[in-house]
Amino acid sequence: MKILGLETSCDETGVALYDTEQGLLAHALHSQISLHEIYGGVVPELASRDHVRRIIPLIRKVFTDAKVSGRDLDGVAYTAGPGLIGALLVGVSTGRSLAYGWNIPAVAVNHMEGHLLAPMLEDNPPEFPFIALLVSGGHTMLVKVEAVGSYEILGESLDDAAGEAFDKTAKLLGLGYPGGPPLSALAESGNPDRFRFPRPMTDRPGLDFSFSGLKTFAVNTYKKEGDDEQTRADIACAFVEAVVDTLAIKCKRSLQQTGIKTLVAAGGVSANTQLRERLKKVCRDEGGQVFYPRPEFCTDNGAMIAYAGALRLQAGAEEALGFEGRPRWSLGEL
Ligand code: KG4
Ligand code: ZN
Repeated sequence: MKILGLETSCDETGVALYDTEQGLLAHALHSQISLHEIYGGVVPELASRDHVRRIIPLIRKVFTDAKVSGRDLDGVAYTAGPGLIGALLVGVSTGRSLAYGWNIPAVAVNHMEGHLLAPMLEDNPPEFPFIALLVSGGHTMLVKVEAVGSYEILGESLDDAAGEAFDKTAKLLGLGYPGGPPLSALAESGNPDRFRFPRPMTDRPGLDFSFSGLKTFAVNTYKKEGDDEQTRADIACAFVEAVVDTLAIKCKRSLQQTGIKTLVAAGGVSANTQLRERLKKVCRDEGGQVFYPRPEFCTDNGAMIAYAGALRLQAGAEEALGFEGRPRWSLGEL
C-alpha cells in the first residue's frame, strides 16, 4: 500500500511517500523559519500562504524522487489537526482533492499521533506497550500507548508547552526563532552551579506539567542579574536543566506507575541533546529503553503523517467526502 502524506499544521510544509512493504520511499520538507523569524514567532496568515505556494512543488518532488505517480497510490493522508486552522486547511483541502481526483481514499491524521508514531519509522522500532513523552511547540504530554489508536493521556501541561517555554525564554535572551536549538547551544557554555530554577509540580503526585513559571523565573533572574554574555549562558543552562530534570522526573514516575519499561520521546523538543542523554539514563536505571525518531523526524514532517495514515488505512479507516480542519483535537478522542 502506497500512501502520500501531507503535513501543514504550523510552519513546515512536509510531504512524504510511505509504502507498507518497502517503508519510506521519499520525503521533502520546506521550513518557514526564515519567513517568520523577523517577527519572533509564527504569523498564521503568512504560514497559510506559504503552504499554498510550496505544497504542489513538494508533492511533485517526492513523486520524482520515488519514481511514483498518482496512479500508483492507494491513499492520501493529511494532518487535520491540531494546529493553525488556515495552515491546516491547505493540507486538508489539497489531500482531499487529490484523493477525489485519483479516486482513492483520504484519511485525516492527528498531528500528535504522527509525532507519537514517528519512532516506528526507524530500523529498531519500539514494541507496544510504551509510554510516549510528546514534547512539541504546542503540547507536552505523557501517553500510555497499548497499540496503534489506543492512547491514554496520563498527564499534560496545564499552561505553556515545553517547546513554547524554550521559545519564550530564548526570545528573552535575544536568541532567534525557534528558540529550542540556540537556547540549548547557549546552555552548553553556562555554569550549572550559578542558578537553580524550580522543577514545577514535581513535589506533588501526578503527571501533569506547568512550564510558564520557569519562563517568569528566567525573566526575573535576567532583570536582577544583568545582561552580560556569561549571565545569559548561565540562565540558559539553569532553564534547560530545570526543563530536562522536570521531564525526566515525570517520565520515571510514569514508568514506575505503569510498570512499562519502554519510553518513546517525540516532538520538536525530543531533538534536544541534553534531554536525550537524561532520558537514556532514566530508562537504564529502570531497566528499560528509550526510543527516538531521527532528529529530522522529531520536528514536523510529512513522513510521520504518511506512516500514521498508512496504519489507519490498513486498519480499514474510511471517510466521507466532506472534510474539516480541527485546530483542537485531543489524542484522547482517537
Ligand atoms: O514538533 P514541532 O516541530 O512543532 C510542533 O508541533 O509544535 O516542535 C517545535 C518546537 C519549538 O518550540 C522548538 O523550539 C522546539 O520544538 N525544539 C527544540 C529543539 N528543536 C526544536 N527544543 C529544544 N531543543 C531542541 N534541540
Ligand atoms: Zn509538531
